[in-house]
Amino acid sequence: SNDQRLVGKHVLVTAGPTHEPIDPVRVIANKSSGKQGFAIAAAAVKAGARVTLVAGPVSLATPAGVNRIDVQTANEMADAVAGALPADIAIMVAAVADWRVAPSDVKLKKDAGAPDLQFERNPDILATLGEHPERPGLLIGFAAETNDVVANATSKLERKKADWILANDVSGDVMGGDRNRIHLVTADGVEDWDEASKADVASHLIDKIAESIS
Ligand code: C5P
Repeated sequence: SNDQRLVGKHVLVTAGPTHEPIDPVRVIANKSSGKQGFAIAAAAVKAGARVTLVAGPVSLATPAGVNRIDVQTANEMADAVAGALPADIAIMVAAVADWRVAPSDVKLKKDAGAPDLQFERNPDILATLGEHPERPGLLIGFAAETNDVVANATSKLERKKADWILANDVSGDVMGGDRNRIHLVTADGVEDWDEASKADVASHLIDKIAESIS
């Protein structure tokens, strides 16, 4: 391709949900489809980047030219991300489960009554990168919110030491859907993007990245 804007750059993307096992057949999951992260990985390849895509359990084809690492749990995703460093640009799109439980080795039986699940916090992968000695030069997160979208995204930007947060309102059918409406939150303020397909959001984000590193 003649798009050379990200040639020589390593772009690291997370996408999809994580699955936190309860027992050998049951998981705690969420409704993330992985579509937005996969679209961003594809757009980064198109711009000439070397792309590592750490994907939770999704049913999507690997975009051509992308190095894909499949994981199930948040801990596995955190390990895969750390193992993929250094990266010039990291875009954490995955909907990582906030909590895990210590899974039972055997299938829980309903006759034993309601399971007494003990939740433990999962690592925050974006926040870990924000403080990492090999912190990517451009660190980007997403924030799926149902209310106070921009305010919540602004506090995530600061708390996780990210450079940009792409906030989106998921109170509609964004999760699993094909369209998205983004508010780009940076230290400079907020930019409201028009509603667009996830593919167009991805190429617009890659445009912004190419501008900011040039
Ligand atoms: O879940 P939350 O709204 O805090 O997610 C905001 C950003 O943080 C997203 O970019 C998400 O991928 C990232 N995140 C993460 N690890 C977590 C939770 C969130 O990387 N455990």
